Amino acid sequence: MVSTKAPEDAYTAEPFLPDRGGLPALRRAAAECRGCPLHRDATQTVFGVGDRNARVMLVGEQPGDQEDRQGKPFVGPAGRLLDRALEEAGLDPAKAYVTNAVKHFKFTRAEPRKRRIHKAPTLREMTACGPWLAAELAVVEPELIVLLGASAGKALLGSSFRVGEVRGTLLEREIHGRPRKLVATVHPSSVLRARDDADREAAYAGLVSDLKVAARALS
Ligand code: URA
Ligand code: SF4
Repeated sequence: MVSTKAPEDAYTAEPFLPDRGGLPALRRAAAECRGCPLHRDATQTVFGVGDRNARVMLVGEQPGDQEDRQGKPFVGPAGRLLDRALEEAGLDPAKAYVTNAVKHFKFTRAEPRKRRIHKAPTLREMTACGPWLAAELAVVEPELIVLLGASAGKALLGSSFRVGEVRGTLLEREIHGRPRKLVATVHPSSVLRARDDADREAAYAGLVSDLKVAARALS
């Protein structure tokens, strides 16, 4: 029997990418992306935000609940914490290009109409969404990429990426055939998830210290 359902390996944003144009064209096209099933339950595509001349690109995992509603990356609790850490590290959040490895919010609900709970994207979904991130990189050409957590790292450097092994050091890696400078750190949400105040303070200090490495690489 012929199946009408595409095989899961066929998940890809590729056919939705525009042939030409800069960030505005990419953003418009991404709003219509159906490259994987995540668009079905999410409110909207959350594309990257920032200047095409930004020197630094911050890459998160995927939009959260607030980002899904507002259509902008890092505008919820994790974003507020990130902005504070960036400023403390000497990086201006307003000057960064901010985006995510995956452009649609993935979530589960314990019960119908209950709060939406973040669910980590699979490698297949990150791979499907990869062409958008690659296009953003090609337009912005940042001097430095800051990887916020393991998902961002896996999306750009492969599934063997472990944030704990490389965090807080200036890395040089080839991405899509081009050498790129990167600094990896933990995801700001992991700071919010700390068990107690002492843990949270230590995790936050670690994030700021990693971001200072990024600030120094840019100076
Ligand atoms: N977490 C992310 O990784 N990205 C966002 O935009 C918000 C929370
Ligand atoms: Fe397209 Fe990415 Fe959304 Fe999947 S998550 S539909 S690939 S924009």
